[in-house]
Amino acid sequence: MDEHLALLDVGGEIRRHLDTGDRRGAWQLLARLAHDLGHHVDREERGLFRALKDQGDFGDAVAELEGEHADFDEALSDLGLEDGDLEARVEELLDHLSVHIDKENLGIFPVAVVTLGATGWDRIAAVHSEVVGSA
Ligand SMILES: [Fe+2]
Ligand SMILES: [Fe+2]
Repeated sequence: MDEHLALLDVGGEIRRHLDTGDRRGAWQLLARLAHDLGHHVDREERGLFRALKDQGDFGDAVAELEGEHADFDEALSDLGLEDGDLEARVEELLDHLSVHIDKENLGIFPVAVVTLGATGWDRIAAVHSEVVGSA
């Protein structure tokens, strides 16, 4: 499954747990989201984003997306199971993640397909061929 779809899928499961008052179930899935998102972001930043920066393309767009990656990391780290506003903060985080993924899917990814040279694709292939979980 596409990694973005998988992340949104976990987000949907988290929402369903929170909607039924199951904070503990949501909490376990939030840990999975943090893990999977961390892995995804790491490959994105070392692969596609690095390749675009090396090529001198779309620096501002890449910087904005990387800033959002850092925001997600911070927002997830700041959550607490007993927080009174846990549901609202998770909702905000998941909405933000959805918009971020749309920006990538509809903006930087299709643009990269057209503009990225062979060296950039080699970099992405190298990052994606690393054994999952070895980092
Ligand atoms: Fe991203
Ligand atoms: Fe992404």
